[in-house]
Amino acid sequence: MEEKTARRRIVLVPVPAQGHISPMMQLAKSLHLKGFSITVAQTKFNYFTPSDDFTDIQFVTIQETLPESDFKNLGPIELQHKLNKECQESFKDCLGQLLLQQSNKITCVIYDEFMYFAEAAAKEFNLPSVIFSTTSATAFACRSVFDKLYANNVLAPLNDTLEYYFSEPEGQKEELVPEFHPLRYKDFPVSRWASLESIMELYRNTVDKRTASFVIINTASCLESLSLSWLQQKLEIPVYPIGPLHMMASAPTSLLEENMSCIEWLNKQKKDSVIFISLGSLALMEISEVMETALGLDSSNQHFLWVIRPGLVPGSEWIEYLPEKFSKIVSERGYIVKWAPQKEVLAHPAVGGFWSHCGWNSTLESIGEGVPMICRPFSGDQKVNARYLECVWKIGIQVEGELEREAVKRAVKRLMVSQEGGEMRKRAVSLRERLRSSVREGGSSHNSLDEFVHLMKTM
Ligand code: UDX
Repeated sequence: MEEKTARRRIVLVPVPAQGHISPMMQLAKSLHLKGFSITVAQTKFNYFTPSDDFTDIQFVTIQETLPESDFKNLGPIELQHKLNKECQESFKDCLGQLLLQQSNKITCVIYDEFMYFAEAAAKEFNLPSVIFSTTSATAFACRSVFDKLYANNVLAPLNDTLEYYFSEPEGQKEELVPEFHPLRYKDFPVSRWASLESIMELYRNTVDKRTASFVIINTASCLESLSLSWLQQKLEIPVYPIGPLHMMASAPTSLLEENMSCIEWLNKQKKDSVIFISLGSLALMEISEVMETALGLDSSNQHFLWVIRPGLVPGSEWIEYLPEKFSKIVSERGYIVKWAPQKEVLAHPAVGGFWSHCGWNSTLESIGEGVPMICRPFSGDQKVNARYLECVWKIGIQVEGELEREAVKRAVKRLMVSQEGGEMRKRAVSLRERLRSSVREGGSSHNSLDEFVHLMKTM
């Protein structure tokens, strides 16, 4: 009891989306293990129901009153704008209550960079605030210069129709961005969910107006040392690369039920023989793309584990559009689930490759298990990650342009059975070892967390 009252408290504010909740909960666990009391302030939407692993962590609700239709119909960027307007007052009330109730002092508020209302509320109570980026340091750096590129009109806008996205961007957009090698203009984190203007407004609020004292990024310096030094110089506040967080503090963080039966299926497969296909929690596909993927997988002759989320194809129930013939192929050498225990799948010896949309969590989880990737980014920071996987870490093959069966077959065979794929696997394993070292005692992420903790305890 005595020890509890002596603990300092940190309040965390995640974006209510799977790819943001998971790393924030892993950060919560890491800080709790370092002796802090933790409060997580969540919205009612996409509420993360904590398992027994989180019994020592307090969860409170930010009483937002957005209509259900907003959550169903708005894209993530528009929803983010609304949440920031809607939550500021209720979070202020929430923070006020916590300050009254808690016997232990609140040391700081750590907020997902896109929940910037939390920073304004913390300021009202004179509490230091800390930005937490769930994307890569490179994507963070890209967002910091977005306004300059936006003004020069060189970014490739993504229309909200899928066809437009896969059509070839013209002219300068293929060129490399100075200072950001090897990123091309078209790799910049432009979301396909909103207009460039709307994205610019969000980035202005997260980049230009911030007054936070520190930044934590879910990354490791062995992955992005140049981008981290660049940020350290430009931001003029300390940047702490503390990641990959899923390797620092593991805990179940899935919003959806994981279908564990796929692990039994994997147990029956040979080492490195299965390609795992999963596109995170938000990416979408057209029916024609799913069909081309299915046909490409068929002719590749590889075994596959495929996550097809209900709603992956807008307007569909699940996989009713797949032809009867494909059921036979699945029964011979495939397995399809609605949601998988992704980290366990990637850690399974049977998995030799990962076809991914390259969300940052998926990227870190794959590298963390030494699994090379086929990169098919859908939106935002995923394009940055895909480019790094292919050109910097050299453990990925990017599939660009229209998705058709021959390209699918070629990419799968290149990764799974060619010598080039074998070389990528070796590089991925060596990168995995470097990541493991960085989270161990004396490693860079481990030290970075300790420095941050020391600062918070002595502030
Ligand atoms: C989004 C962005 O794409 C990402 O780049 C950003 O950093 C956070 O928000 P999302 O698209 O969902 O996230 O992708 P990703 O970052 O890869 O996160 C998906 C998470 O869901 C991963 O942790 C993955 O393990 C998990 N997942 C996915 C499952 O547990 N099971 C599945 O079947 C699929």
